[in-house]
Amino acid sequence: MEHIDEVAAANERKWEREVQKGGGHTIPFLDLDVEELRRFVRGDAREDRLVGRLEPRRYVSIGPLSLFTDLEGKDVLCLSAGGGQQSAVFGLLGARVTVVDIAQGQLEADREAAAHHGYDVTTVHADMRDLSSLRPESMDLVYGMTPCWAPDIRAVYAQVARVLRVGGVYRTDVGKPGLHFVEWDGSGYRITKPYCESRGPYDDDGGVETRHYMDDIFNGLLDAGLSLVQVIDGARWRQLPDAPPGSYHRMGAWTGGGFEIIARRAAS
Ligand SMILES: C[S@@+](CC[C@H](N)C(=O)[O-])C[C@H]1O[C@@H](n2cnc3c(N)ncnc32)[C@H](O)[C@@H]1O
Repeated sequence: MEHIDEVAAANERKWEREVQKGGGHTIPFLDLDVEELRRFVRGDAREDRLVGRLEPRRYVSIGPLSLFTDLEGKDVLCLSAGGGQQSAVFGLLGARVTVVDIAQGQLEADREAAAHHGYDVTTVHADMRDLSSLRPESMDLVYGMTPCWAPDIRAVYAQVARVLRVGGVYRTDVGKPGLHFVEWDGSGYRITKPYCESRGPYDDDGGVETRHYMDDIFNGLLDAGLSLVQVIDGARWRQLPDAPPGSYHRMGAWTGGGFEIIARRAAS
């Protein structure tokens, strides 16, 4: 695959290394039980066993649960969401699943999950800013993970709008821009950089993340022909203030992490 820019190349390398390390976002969901899953997404199965098994995985995002109903025969694109987690949930719930990711190792996990659970999956090695290998108006739902890996969020939205059917739904999560890049200093979180757009490559993993401006995050949807349906603040479910200092969950609890956006493709 020819990279659109150096950011894409750096982030592919970062995520392939993450796969090699077995990072938390790269482990496929192989132990899901479809009946438990159905009860969980209906919200009527909060028994400890299930909550214990699924809730800690909230860092691997499966929400809002309303998107996980009535999926039989629906076309769902998991966008920059490789790793065999969201695709496993959608596949088990009867959706026709396609996964786009820039890291082959992540897509391998989606194929592993599909083979393990016995559903079909289509994996596409591509940049979320170029979905030209997918047919226009072919998806009912685009379930996207944070576009922070792409410098231009509007380019992602344009691709999403192209592949969605009229009335189709787009879901993404976005880090709270002002708090996206905070550093743990041993006792609290410090903002150490001005509010600029990009950061990286990181010394430790070479990845490059972009903090998008709020107006691009929201106006960009409208400009792409997507209407806003719902915004869900991540602080509502990141309630783990006692998580270990410096940990991912602690940062989420203290900064609120991000938010989810649900949008719908309007008629053209
Ligand atoms: C935080 S992980 C999300 C995946 C995982 N399913 C989860 O829930 O944590 C971010 C994913 O974005 C992918 N990615 C990074 N840059 C990308 C790009 N430009 N286009 C497509 N995927 C990209 C990475 O390879 C990685 O799989």
